Amino acid sequence: MSTSLSIRGGRLFIEECDATALAERFGTPLFAVSLNHVRANLQRIKQAFTQRWSFGPVRILCAFKAAPLLALRRILSEEGSGCDVFGPGELEGAIRGGEQPSLISVNGDITAGAIVRRGIERGARIGIDSPREANLCVEEAKALARRARLMVRVKPFLADLALNSDFLPSMEIRELTQVIKYGIPTSELLPMVRQLSQSEDIELIGVHAHMGRHSKYPEVWQAWAHHCVELIDQVRQQFPGWSPQIINLGGGFPSESDRDTDVAVQGYAGATLEKFASVITTTLESTLRKFGFNPEGVTLELEPGRSLHTDTAIHLATVKNCKAEQLHRPRRWAEMDTSEVFLGIGGLNDSPPFDFIIANKADHPSDGERDLVGMTCNAELLFSQVATPNLVPGDVVALLNTGAYIEPMAANFNSLPRPGTVLVQGNDADWAKRPERVEEVFARDTEPYFFANPEKGATCND
Ligand SMILES: Cc1ncc(COP(=O)(O)O)c(C=O)c1O
Repeated sequence: MSTSLSIRGGRLFIEECDATALAERFGTPLFAVSLNHVRANLQRIKQAFTQRWSFGPVRILCAFKAAPLLALRRILSEEGSGCDVFGPGELEGAIRGGEQPSLISVNGDITAGAIVRRGIERGARIGIDSPREANLCVEEAKALARRARLMVRVKPFLADLALNSDFLPSMEIRELTQVIKYGIPTSELLPMVRQLSQSEDIELIGVHAHMGRHSKYPEVWQAWAHHCVELIDQVRQQFPGWSPQIINLGGGFPSESDRDTDVAVQGYAGATLEKFASVITTTLESTLRKFGFNPEGVTLELEPGRSLHTDTAIHLATVKNCKAEQLHRPRRWAEMDTSEVFLGIGGLNDSPPFDFIIANKADHPSDGERDLVGMTCNAELLFSQVATPNLVPGDVVALLNTGAYIEPMAANFNSLPRPGTVLVQGNDADWAKRPERVEEVFARDTEPYFFANPEKGATCND
């Protein structure tokens, strides 16, 4: 069980807060995040790398997308971390969340000038994913009369590694990392760098290479770090004298709980975070030296998402109704006031996507199997035929390990307002995001003008 959870007197606690009391006080469905657990995970990640990379600074740029709460960003930045953001919305979130601009890494969806401009103006550095984006940065930097600090996102090729991906077990990682869209195709990268080497408007500060959560085997990360430096060497061949100030290897480290909804292959013994840190740092050092680079002064950056957040939150739901069929196919159901559409999952799952605990009956014996189902008109088979204590309306179910990529995936199916999130600290808790209201579900709806003015001419082909 996660370090912030405990069972006391038969009831689930998150930090010092009784989870059932949280459900009653704030209402359900509800996400509850343990702040001290987030802090502890961050410190562990930071230490794992700083203890092993003595050549330059280590920066942890926590992936905004995994847990996009402004209050959480404030805590993470107070703890000294920065932020990896994707696109204009996340850049706005990082700024509003109080992130120090120099520790914001703007990646992805920068195909519009506005985000590049805002990033450069604020002093954030821009990660580019195509030569077109490089040109955009040059233009915006010229217009602002400021030098843009750029990172190039590269696609290392894991030439001799024939392991399959945990995301899509039918494919090899070397295949997937080449065919997935992100990263500048190497055939476009090298001529682009040659061109950038002539520009006075940009400073090429480093290389970004996010692989993702393809594997828990350290040799995959060893190969990734190795081939990343190999590419850095090719970049230098286009830009004589250049060497990276920053190497950013992105996120993708497994969470300790290993219960991620987007990962198909779980449950095998993988490496610890400390082992990843050890393999990555030793490989980077030796490969940099092999290619004649001096690691001294090189900043190492990581962008953890799931490894930082997954096990820090629970999702609370209340049992609203219980049904039983005695005929044909005997079966029992407990219907909860949450849904697969709040949990980033869907379809008829045959295995539980999360672990769960009956928060107010944590030590009660099982009285047999039942389905725990959600509340929309879908089948909502969240947990199929699982052993639980006798359940009655009012009981509180806690779904565990819901801290990463769950809340931001929540949708409004059946016009349901999305759940809120509380932050828990010691024996205190308060909203970080209040629940949505029904009127907000329809807040963007409008009526086309021709409903009221049918005689007004059509506008589409003017
Ligand atoms: C550029 C980048 N950095 C970091 C992350 C975080 O990855 P994870 O949550 O697997 O650690 C992602 C996730 O997609 C990403 O795209």
